[in-house]
Amino acid sequence: MTERPRLLPLLGPAGHSGRDAMTCLYRCGNACDHPVPNESGNPYLGDVVSDGMTRRGVVRAGAVGALVLGIAAAAGTPAAAAPAASSAPVPGLLPQTPAKGRAGALTFKPIPPNKLDNLVVPNGYDTAVVLRWGDPVLPGAPALDVRRQTAERQSAQFGYNNDFVGVVPLGRDGRRALLVVNHEYTNEELMFPGFTTLEAMTVDQIKVAMAAHGLSVVELERVGGTGQWRPARGRHLPYNRRITALATPFAFTGPAAGSAWLRTAADPKGASAIGTLNNCSGGVTPWGTVLSGEENFNQYFVGGDQAPEDLKPKLARYGISTTARHPGGSRRWERAQERFDLAKHPNEAHRFGWVVEVDPLDPQGRPRKHTALGRLKHEGANVIVGRTGHVVAYMGDDERFDYLYKFVSAKKFIPGNRRHNLTLLESGTLYVAKLSGDSPAAEIDGSGKLPADGVFDGTGTWIKLVSGNRSYVPGMSAADVLTFTRLAGDAVGATKMDRPEDVQPSPVTGKIYAALTNNSNRGVGANPGVDEANPRIGNKHGQIFEITEDRGDHTAETFTWSLPIVCGDPADPSTYFAGYDKSAVSPISCPDNVAFDSAGNLWISTDGNALGSNDGLFATAIEGPERGHLKQFLTVPLGAETCGPFITGDDRSVFTAVQHPGEITGASLEKPASTWPDGDFAKPAVVVTWRLDGGPVGS
Ligand code: FEO
Ligand code: CA
Ligand code: CA
Ligand code: CA
Repeated sequence: MTERPRLLPLLGPAGHSGRDAMTCLYRCGNACDHPVPNESGNPYLGDVVSDGMTRRGVVRAGAVGALVLGIAAAAGTPAAAAPAASSAPVPGLLPQTPAKGRAGALTFKPIPPNKLDNLVVPNGYDTAVVLRWGDPVLPGAPALDVRRQTAERQSAQFGYNNDFVGVVPLGRDGRRALLVVNHEYTNEELMFPGFTTLEAMTVDQIKVAMAAHGLSVVELERVGGTGQWRPARGRHLPYNRRITALATPFAFTGPAAGSAWLRTAADPKGASAIGTLNNCSGGVTPWGTVLSGEENFNQYFVGGDQAPEDLKPKLARYGISTTARHPGGSRRWERAQERFDLAKHPNEAHRFGWVVEVDPLDPQGRPRKHTALGRLKHEGANVIVGRTGHVVAYMGDDERFDYLYKFVSAKKFIPGNRRHNLTLLESGTLYVAKLSGDSPAAEIDGSGKLPADGVFDGTGTWIKLVSGNRSYVPGMSAADVLTFTRLAGDAVGATKMDRPEDVQPSPVTGKIYAALTNNSNRGVGANPGVDEANPRIGNKHGQIFEITEDRGDHTAETFTWSLPIVCGDPADPSTYFAGYDKSAVSPISCPDNVAFDSAGNLWISTDGNALGSNDGLFATAIEGPERGHLKQFLTVPLGAETCGPFITGDDRSVFTAVQHPGEITGASLEKPASTWPDGDFAKPAVVVTWRLDGGPVGS
């Protein structure tokens, strides 16, 4: 039997779900305190249905002992069925390539939930910090000294709050690779000595924060023959690069590039933007580039109240306040760069919210913002080569009651022709998802109780929004649809989801998995009610959404779907783990990122655990008799969120980003709530975990 978890008090004032109030402010500008931006009247699914490291800072599970929260998790590991055959292998050494015939059983002993200020991994594994905030990236960069920090120094050092982690192979011997990391946002309290308020920051400090945003590209080398990696040293490092919000130019591509929406005084052609904002998750493409999603860009802008009246609804749909100059989370960046004031530069906001593509093998190249993939609060984008040869990118818009999207390229992938493949995301067709449940609406009662057919499932349609320069949305041009994609989704009646985060196809089965993280407003007050895909009122713990494209064709316009996992405490009757024995699964809350190992096991990281434990990384088989046997692989230190993850194609290494350790209200650089990883003050860091005996991770 599974014991019920003892819920520990949160260490700081609670924000929303399991989030600390400091997280709510800095991460998303207190989005949950603001009205839901989607006020469209398009039917929700219910309506449709009714019609139809350092060694310090590492703990292995055996040492956790009495400190754990006391949730038992069984370690039974019966053999799993072999994964189904691949429909679309992803080429490349490190991006996952299906392992022929390797069984997918996950053999690690799950770790228990805990509130330790440590990284906890299973017995038999080791873990080390690869890069932490402030580590030198560019040649000659100084070490971190928080008392002497400048924008110039930060622009040469590893940025703050690492989120997405991608690994791109370098050479063919498996010993060198490029690590590409997003730096989503900054925690000024935890970065600057003597911090008081955002208003009191100097312009130089604001520029440090801007330089701590963006991405890092860092060459890694394998440590001996192990699964450990470290920054390459002792040689010229031509690929190492910092991309920042402060100064890096980006080129716009696609149908909205050059449109009136993207033109500003500084860029009258609408051709390029300075910087990238709030880069959350992403994906590695089959041609070895990295995609990165610009997410909560709204919180960086002020002056929406003085924007042109006809623009205000478009700004508001993206969460930008049009009634107050300083909405909840404004970073005050307009004090450093005037472009963040929409009263003066109303189009600047439209230059963010895109999927960006960075080619780590071209360190001098200009990264691109692809307008063909639409403008949302992009969590990320993951690409698969469909059997027709077109590439398909799956994407989530991370906001309560927003939508799932996919992009199908106009051109086909050509193996080995990188120059051609680099153009694939510049033109194509953008779709949004509309769902139907297959159970009677009356059986979806909001409690999470399964309907009579035993599963939350149904069918769906990909509704075409735009193809090339042709719009399929009445009254909107192609540039309108791509720049104000949320409004296009509203117009066609897309299904309002519980915060779609990472969406990723399995390289083994081709099925697509989306993390729907939570939605405290579902079915509450005047908000949309439950439906079969979003079946719980006030959804605190989220669910995993599985899509199977019709005929296994990623370009199909119809699909079936189900919810294999409805998250929470397994002892909570509203949870579901694909029918697996719930006494044997680990509790999970707020799924955020998904990834796959080469056997096709689904790995899930969490953000904002509402069960009282630190956030963590979990894994489960998703095919065969072990489907739903979810086990916790890792937990991150106090106040942190688990990001990445990335499992290398050889299954030897799990990369995880530890984002915002110590992000607990009341904490400061001088009084940190976490001292991970070095024992002084909290530093976001990327860690690698590997099996001590050299075997494949997880199994
Ligand atoms: Fe940056 Fe949707 O999490
Ligand atoms: Ca059903
Ligand atoms: Ca996320
Ligand atoms: Ca992912």
